[in-house]
Amino acid sequence: MTLQNPLLFKQHCYIDGKWVNALNQKTHLVNNPYDQSELGHVPMCGAAEAKQAIEAAFNAQKSWKMLTALQRSTYLRCWADLIDKHKEDLAILMTLEQGKPITEARSEIEYANSFIKWFAEEARRVYGDVIPSNKPKQHLLVLKQPIGVVAAITPWNFPAAMITRKCAPALAVGCTIVIKPAEETPFSALALAALAEQAGIPAGVFNIVTGNPSDIGAEFTHNPLVRKFSFTGSTQVGKLLMQQCASTVKKVSLELGGNAPFIVFDDADLDLAVTGLMASKFRNTGQTCICANRIFVQEAVYDAFTQKLVSAVKKLRIGNGLDESVQQGPLINEAALEKVTNHVADAIANGAASVFGGKRHEAGKLFFTPTILTDMNMSMLIAREETFGPIAPLFRFKTEEEVIAMSNETNAGLASYFYSQDIHRIWRIAEALQYGMVGVNEGIISTEVAPFGGYKESGIGREGSRYGIEDYVEIKYLCMG
Ligand code: SIN
Repeated sequence: MTLQNPLLFKQHCYIDGKWVNALNQKTHLVNNPYDQSELGHVPMCGAAEAKQAIEAAFNAQKSWKMLTALQRSTYLRCWADLIDKHKEDLAILMTLEQGKPITEARSEIEYANSFIKWFAEEARRVYGDVIPSNKPKQHLLVLKQPIGVVAAITPWNFPAAMITRKCAPALAVGCTIVIKPAEETPFSALALAALAEQAGIPAGVFNIVTGNPSDIGAEFTHNPLVRKFSFTGSTQVGKLLMQQCASTVKKVSLELGGNAPFIVFDDADLDLAVTGLMASKFRNTGQTCICANRIFVQEAVYDAFTQKLVSAVKKLRIGNGLDESVQQGPLINEAALEKVTNHVADAIANGAASVFGGKRHEAGKLFFTPTILTDMNMSMLIAREETFGPIAPLFRFKTEEEVIAMSNETNAGLASYFYSQDIHRIWRIAEALQYGMVGVNEGIISTEVAPFGGYKESGIGREGSRYGIEDYVEIKYLCMG
């Protein structure tokens, strides 16, 4: 591993400002998904270390919340400057442990840092209210106070951005945080902690505990000192964690699975739609919660759109993410590869045609060829489940009513996309889609300034933007007689 600053490669947890092993000294191995080579070991912690970190966060919060908003903002800004300075090392670490192309890893570091910069600014704008009283000689006020200790579990697909999107608003308002990163991608999280330490963020304010997900998750969700729990990951695990949080009635934020429709109407600019689809579908090799999962194309443009898409997909370069020209990396693990393989097999068994790809790729054990399937129907697995891989399934539709019904026929409601040039249609469709986010003639919608989150079983709460900070404060009403 050739890092300019090798000190960013940490193989210990960061608890209460100290780099520590698991109490039982156990570790777990992290491999590179590109070639399965060994990258390093991290502590295999459990409930005991999670409890220590929560207690450290609880103690640290007493003084962290007493700082002025400007002081907390300055700490965050200093951390962001260090992240900018070490961007290339952070991107290399990310590609090594996650597999995504280096160009995407660099963008993710910028995206991750945009949350720290944004919330460093928002820290200074957590305003309360004065309410006109309904009685003489009474004054009614609303204060916003930090909720307390936050515990968060973050996923492997965005090893840096999903951390900063949670910890930046938490720290900005005066909360402290304990994070468990995904077992597959702990090194990006630990490198961020190394830079937080360098930025002088006080001990106990930002903690990282690696290890056993169910033991750490149980401590996070049951410990009464934790007042807010935030999770990004699968809907199935999110439901379980939400149930666990009920025992101590924690405030919960969940960013769960999606099943995004991507609709191409017959009045769409087809070249623009292909560009948008390539960006949405193949970002991170199809492993994002907001990737287009079901592509609905109106019948008059179905064949033309398919042809244009095939020529774009053919050009994708597949291989080792560290190679600057590569656009598609490996899938994260065997389970991911198996899911993608099953989805393609199920579609073909039920009448779909594979017009490009459809099989594994010779670049390595965890690679799948970017694939285009046509003649899809709503009884297939892909119509119901998120594939989380580089498969573009094309469904044909006739009318607006039909495509709205098909798009909304899912328990998920995270992101959706459509392409049309008719302003009346744009409003009708944007309002009818039951999704938290809608891309209109746009395939990349994520930004720190807009609210990220879903309807239905895709989650609770919003991250990023001015709305994102609300999840980390309690509202206190003062009635002054
Ligand atoms: C996700 O897939 O969970 C996050 C994607 C994003 O923030 O753009």
